[in-house]
Amino acid sequence: MRRLVAETRLGVDDLLAPLFVREGIDRPAPIASLPGQVQHTVASLVAEARRLAALGVPGIALFGVPAAKDPVGSGAWDPDGIVQMALAELRAAIGDDMVLIADLCLDEYTEHGHCGVLDASGSVDNDATVALYRRVAIAQARAGADVVAPSGMMDGQVASIRAALDGVGCGEVAVLAYAAKYASALYGPFRDAVGVEIASGGDRRGYQQDPANRREARIEVALDVAEGADIVMVKPALAYLDVLADTAAAVDVPVAAYHVSGEYAMVKAAAERGWIDGDAVMVEHLTSIKRAGARMILTYAAGEVAQAVNG
Ligand code: PBG
Repeated sequence: MRRLVAETRLGVDDLLAPLFVREGIDRPAPIASLPGQVQHTVASLVAEARRLAALGVPGIALFGVPAAKDPVGSGAWDPDGIVQMALAELRAAIGDDMVLIADLCLDEYTEHGHCGVLDASGSVDNDATVALYRRVAIAQARAGADVVAPSGMMDGQVASIRAALDGVGCGEVAVLAYAAKYASALYGPFRDAVGVEIASGGDRRGYQQDPANRREARIEVALDVAEGADIVMVKPALAYLDVLADTAAAVDVPVAAYHVSGEYAMVKAAAERGWIDGDAVMVEHLTSIKRAGARMILTYAAGEVAQAVNG
């Protein structure tokens, strides 16, 4: 009876796995604050993508860790940059079995760790940054990305990237917009994973949203949809289920939620201490995210949940 009346069913089709690929390492490097996750070599990334595809996970979201950084983050659009190299290998290895999503941002590639380039005063320059995002989008599309996912929260980024892609004949590449992305303390383990430290104790409050604001997210989401976003994402997920529910009610494009690094790590840490049943809590959390309105969930637990669902 419970199965018959269940309103929400979490399945493998709901999951996207974020994966990290690091330039210049010869074996995968575990990420201490993300138990079970690693910085991949290109070879181990391809093997993991194959494993996830075999489990039925429909897509992966790729983050790059370059060997060198510079003030403008040029590794992000270098045709030989780590993500572009990895995308080409993934495409060759897995064909159309999986959706390849490329995170589109500069923070992993800039020395100062901000999501954009800085002006003379040291603030992120919105429009100069968006001009660089266009280059990243084109490089990722040409390398084989099905979807680019701008995560930098610059104003106008979606329209500009859409136009750039269309202008080079990549009109079929979709845009997954990090539409309502909050300046959250839950990204800590991710920053370990990608080796990002924001210069001089800085933060992202100048471009990411204030956790105090719910209505503001509606504006951000509506703008991204109007600019041509194919999918809109809310991030983080659990602490923002109200925003997620609002978003799902307001738009007709698919809604994604990012179950971020800190959300995953908290469950793992408590489970490690024997304080909670980690597997059960993980599924409960992901089910709640889906119940609130997410059509798809980016989660570091994608592999383990897919395995459990498959029996
Ligand atoms: C920025 C980016 C971040 C995450 C995804 N893209 C970090 C940030 O905004 O500081 C965080 C994801 C996570 O915590 O799992 N390019």
